[in-house]
Formats: sequence, C-alpha cells, structure tokens
Amino acid sequence: MGEVTPSALGLIGNTPLVRLSRIRPGRGRLLAKAEFVQPGGSVKDRAALRIVQDARGAGQLGPGQPVVEMTSGNMGAGLAVVCNVLGHPFIATMSEGNSPARARMLEALGAEVVLVRQVEGTPGRVTGADIRAATERAIEIARERGAFYVDQFNNPSCVRAHEESTGPEIWEALGDELDAFVAAVGTGGTFVGVSRFLKRMKPGMWCVAVEPEGAEVLAGKAVEKPDHLLQGTGYGFVPPQWDPGLADEFIAISDNEATRFRRLLAEKEGLHVGFSAAANVCAALKLVESSRLGEAATVVTVLCDTGLKY
Ligand SMILES: Cc1ncc(COP(=O)(O)O)c(C=O)c1O
Repeated sequence: MGEVTPSALGLIGNTPLVRLSRIRPGRGRLLAKAEFVQPGGSVKDRAALRIVQDARGAGQLGPGQPVVEMTSGNMGAGLAVVCNVLGHPFIATMSEGNSPARARMLEALGAEVVLVRQVEGTPGRVTGADIRAATERAIEIARERGAFYVDQFNNPSCVRAHEESTGPEIWEALGDELDAFVAAVGTGGTFVGVSRFLKRMKPGMWCVAVEPEGAEVLAGKAVEKPDHLLQGTGYGFVPPQWDPGLADEFIAISDNEATRFRRLLAEKEGLHVGFSAAANVCAALKLVESSRLGEAATVVTVLCDTGLKY
C-alpha cells in the first residue's frame, strides 16, 4: 500500500539499509545506507534540505530569494530539488573537472550552472585548488545577485542534518548490534554528524574515515596525489567542521580499488553507484576482514550517490 508524500521533500531521508552479502558472504554483516534513492540521487539531499529549512527559519533566506552554491554536483542536485519545491531560483558554480553528466543533471533540474575553469586538476579529477576557484565565483555571484550563499563547508546545518537524521535512522534499525561506521569525507557532514550521534549512543562505536590514497590529510599525511577518482571527497585539506576526536581509524583507497568495487557492486549486488560509495564499501570490507572487530561484527557504510552521474 503506497504512502502519499506532499512533495519531493518527503522523499529525502529514511533511506533503507541494504546487506551486501554477495560481496561479504559468511559471518559478520556488511550493510550500506542506500542514499542514492533520494530525489537528487545522493546523500547531499539531506544537507540541502536542512540548510534551506534552517536559513528560512532564521530569516537568512527570504521568500523567492535566489540561492547559490559551489558544488561537485551532488549538493547542487539536492539544492535544486529543495529550491524548486520551495520556490527559490538556484545557481550552481562547479569546477569543469567534474563529470559533464553532473552539469546536465543540474540543468535538467532547472538550475543555472556556472562552470569554472580548473586551475590544477584534470578532467574527472578535481583538487582543492579547483574547489577554491569555484567557491570564489559563488561568493561573487551572491554579492552581485543578492543570493543566499549556502557555504556547505562551513554551514553547521550540514553536520546537523546527519546528526539528526542519518545517524538516528541507522541506530533505529540496528541499535546496539552496530559495531562500526565507515564513510568518506567531503565537507565531513556525513562522517562527523553520524559518528557523533552513534558514539553518543554507544561510546565504543568504531568510526572509520575513508580517504583517497595519496591525499590522506585527515590521517595527518602530506598530499602526494591531489587528483583522484573519489569525486565529492578528499579535497586535500581538513574540512572546517572536522572533529578529530571522532575518527578511530583512517583507511585509504586507491583509484584502482574504487574502480574494482564499483564493478563488483554493480555485478554482484545490482547496485550501480559512484566512486566514493565504492571506496566506502571497499574500506568497510577491509575493516570486516581485519582483526579489529569481532568475526560477527556489523558494519554500516554509505552508498553516497548513484553511478548514473559519472
Ligand atoms: C559522491 C559524494 N560522496 C561523498 C560525499 C561526502 O559527503 P560529506 O560532504 O557529507 O562529507 C560527497 C559530498 O559532496 C559526494 O558528492
């Protein structure tokens, strides 16, 4: 029996957990939160909704006022969905290094897309310097057009979204049976928000941050390879809302591993997802197979976005 939601906003959050028992047969449970089922196609829908709701509630965003943000594509898609439903024009600035499929998706959702030339990376591989260039353009547009600047890296609603929805949803599904959480870090909203909530519920929760191999700044290493395939994560700088007390372990994933796991997820589990999702599953499997947790441990990770954007 279907349920009627009053708008697309009702499709954000409450995503299912899927067991990856073909990739991890036998003892222990490897589970993934299917964030790609949301209307913008990614985990960023949650942050987009929370940011816009909080800004409207605080009077920072008035009725019909435009919204602008720098995006690797996913936050833009989430904001486009939310802005369309709530009646705000949306402008996305994006590095040209992100996949063209992302710009097309944003345009299809009615967003105005402003592409910004890469200063460092190569197509498909976006670096911190590329992100800064796209951010500067977003700030200029906010000034020129009186738009609300989302500022996802510094906006506390981004972490709050996950602390108050994703984390509680995982806990509600598994409770005390859950042993570990594994997630890649872009703004850190997902990792920080979920880990903070889960550790509050169970102090022994093992939280693992996933980074691209060669850009392991959270693990305290120098950046050796700023460009990588894990779009939306691993920008080579510590995000401003990072909380170092939450990460019990760091796992680095190479481009080859992410590519291999993308295929595995599609072919074995029927899940066509993006590179950061594949990196998360690869890292979660490494954790399950290590001796860090008991043999029968339950580990949750995140399928951040659909593979159709690449
Ligand atoms: C594909 C993808 N994976 C992971 C993330 C990381 O999410 P967060 O910003 O919550 O750290 C993002 C963020 O944009 C993303 O686009």
